[in-house]
Amino acid sequence: MKGLLLAGGRGTRLRPLTFTGNKHMLPVANRPILYWGLDHLREAGIEEVGIVLGPLREGIEAGVGDGSTFGLKVTYIQQGEPKGLAHAILCSRDFLGDDPFLMYLGDNMLEHGLRPYVERFARGDASAVVGAVPVRDASHYGVVELGSKDQIVSIEEKPSSPKSDLALIGAYLFSPEVHDVVRGLQPSSRGELEITDAIRGLEERTHRVRVLHLDGWWKDTGRPEDLLEANERVLASRPRSFFVASGHVDPAAHVSGHVGLAAGAVIGPGCTVRGPAVLGEGVRIEEGAYVGPYTSIGKGSVVRRAEIERSILMEEVQVDVGLRIIDSILGRGCRVVERERTPRGAAFVMGDAGKVVLPSPRD
Ligand code: DAU
Repeated sequence: MKGLLLAGGRGTRLRPLTFTGNKHMLPVANRPILYWGLDHLREAGIEEVGIVLGPLREGIEAGVGDGSTFGLKVTYIQQGEPKGLAHAILCSRDFLGDDPFLMYLGDNMLEHGLRPYVERFARGDASAVVGAVPVRDASHYGVVELGSKDQIVSIEEKPSSPKSDLALIGAYLFSPEVHDVVRGLQPSSRGELEITDAIRGLEERTHRVRVLHLDGWWKDTGRPEDLLEANERVLASRPRSFFVASGHVDPAAHVSGHVGLAAGAVIGPGCTVRGPAVLGEGVRIEEGAYVGPYTSIGKGSVVRRAEIERSILMEEVQVDVGLRIIDSILGRGCRVVERERTPRGAAFVMGDAGKVVLPSPRD
């Protein structure tokens, strides 16, 4: 069985973070989202993975290489323009050959990984295995409606009036029968070859598409708030062994909970860090700063004086301000500092589509 990890698309809902890079390289617990996907594929027993690349590919090939550091053999497949998830299968035809394959959307994260798909497929009665979970508003997802024996009654992509609350997760295991179906697909009204159309076509042809009801959390990290939630959930569910403490904690600092401290990271005197949190290589927490739970701080960043909680700071970020910062994502090299001269006021240098949420004067 092969793996197909999708890293194409434009990541528009994560702008401005995706103006300068590929969304799959954004960090969750200080590791690119894509790396978690590669781990899940390997843990499901897959050895060969095709990574589908789109128009923004910065850093992926340099970071993943031939896949050997992940225990995988990785091949890169060029999709170019994002013409749909089923189009990505079409572009991967040569790589996939006649093997069954586990396709994983590079922006999805599943708490319990992908093994349940492989186990279900191993029973030998499925032309595809797809996963579904109930969600509050299914209109943002592929939606599956099931009959009394869990057979598929309908399947639609982002319907305005969903027929059920079951969203399709971004992981699909297909037998090679899917290729014939994909070859015959027409673009949808939004111009994409839809994965839901491929699943529906396969079910019509084989009546052997099986639906897994997955427990554990699932996150599609398409929007900034999803990235923060994924960061929170991943940090909360990591075993103690994930939080390696190679850096230095001053005897007059306060550290509690699981805190990962990479080489050269320093927590200075009078500072408090409450886990789960990860501090990358060379990170410095100084001058009484506080770092609260569910925070990931990237390599080379400095936090001075501030209080930071449930946030993601990427590499080389500088925060030096007497403010409490929550639920925030700061991209590489961002600086949040105090104005030292009059006139007083907040000064911004922001790229397109940036967002600042200031505390209300009532707070
Ligand atoms: O997250 C689950 C949902 O994922 C499913 O419920 C939907 O049925 C499915 O269509 C998909 O919806 P999204 O709107 O989340 O898809 P998005 O365009 O965000 O793309 C998902 C991933 O696939 C993302 O990592 C980018 C990649 N991609 C996307 C397209 C359209 C490609 O590699 N190539 C593409 O052409």
